[in-house]
Amino acid sequence: MSLPEIDLVVYPDECDAFGHLNQASFLSLFERARWEMLLRGPGMDVFTRAGAWPALRKTVIDYRAAAFPGDVLRFQQALTHHGRTSFTMRQTARRVRDEALIASAEFVFVCIDRDGKPVPVPLEFSEFMSARQGFTGETQRLTVHGVNLAVEVRGEGPAILFVHGYPLDRTIWREQIDALEGFRRIAPDLRGMGQSDAPDLGYGMALYAADLAALLDALGVDDVVLCGLSMGGYVAFEFLRQWRSRVRGLVLMDTRAEADAPEVRRARDAAASTARERGASAVGETMLPKMLAPSTLSGRPEIVERVRGLMAATPVAGMVGALGAMRDRAGSESLLPTLAGIPTLVLVGAADIITPPDQARAMAEAIPGARLAIIPGAGHLPPVEQPAATNESLREFLRSLP
Ligand code: MLT
Repeated sequence: MSLPEIDLVVYPDECDAFGHLNQASFLSLFERARWEMLLRGPGMDVFTRAGAWPALRKTVIDYRAAAFPGDVLRFQQALTHHGRTSFTMRQTARRVRDEALIASAEFVFVCIDRDGKPVPVPLEFSEFMSARQGFTGETQRLTVHGVNLAVEVRGEGPAILFVHGYPLDRTIWREQIDALEGFRRIAPDLRGMGQSDAPDLGYGMALYAADLAALLDALGVDDVVLCGLSMGGYVAFEFLRQWRSRVRGLVLMDTRAEADAPEVRRARDAAASTARERGASAVGETMLPKMLAPSTLSGRPEIVERVRGLMAATPVAGMVGALGAMRDRAGSESLLPTLAGIPTLVLVGAADIITPPDQARAMAEAIPGARLAIIPGAGHLPPVEQPAATNESLREFLRSLP
């Protein structure tokens, strides 16, 4: 179940002297789409019922193409940040006829009472938005290091901590969270991504790792099987440097131990400029062909759209922060031989071109006792592209743990 898409027609009285939809009308169409969405869900009075009013605090709109009278625009909405009293919604408007992206926008709201004092975001609204965004389990919101993180926690048993890559969120683990019964599955959104807070500054691998350690403390979890995908693997290396005794098993998925080469560092800076100037979706579009296997790209449009949507919904601040954190991270090659004693699975998609199988094989060979699993039909995202095969490898690994 996803959030309702809203179709709205552009009227002549909303257009300027040259016939284009004007900027004030854009704002009101975005607003109407939000109210219509609530009308089809918990009701337009979901805020007033709770004694709260969503006051607009900040708006950023990217106007991408002109729209004209008679165009039908399809509005999609996503909740990209959820704090105690504030939330951020991302909306896009596409023309139905040719699917052209007309505009995308980010709206930051703070809930206030009649006296203008901040009050908590109504639970009913949060539940509606979260349930419709593809997560069925129990989502908690925990504050660590002054930042509110969204975390999915499901099941009982030994804990597995899933750490997503860039620019993605915890929902890449949806099929693992659903399937791996007998374990306490924990999947947070890293700061700056998904529904976690996205502060403007201060990102780094050490802080991502410290957030995870604090999250485990808050959940009362001592040790975990740590499973990181790509940038999640870079965070896992940092976690191992600081909290090795809390890691009872390690899964390194589609990741690498090496730091960025100079040309990759320059590409990170260029991507950060693109994100600032043209938004997260522009960065996502350049990454998409590299993220998925050719067979996924050509034959599985639902997965292509899922990943495209995840990347486009990443807050720009989080995207820029992650790019800087990856650019500045230390290499972890010297850590690999020291991981003897931590059972390790290195898993990679057979068609991954970002962190190819040969690199994964070399990493597995450098970690004493590590095993390697290559997942056919998957690119950089085996948990999403080939969930059954990924789950099978994970189960086999988990069963083998002491
Ligand atoms: C990721 O999936 O996390 C990124 O592709 C990692 C990277 O760009 O190094």
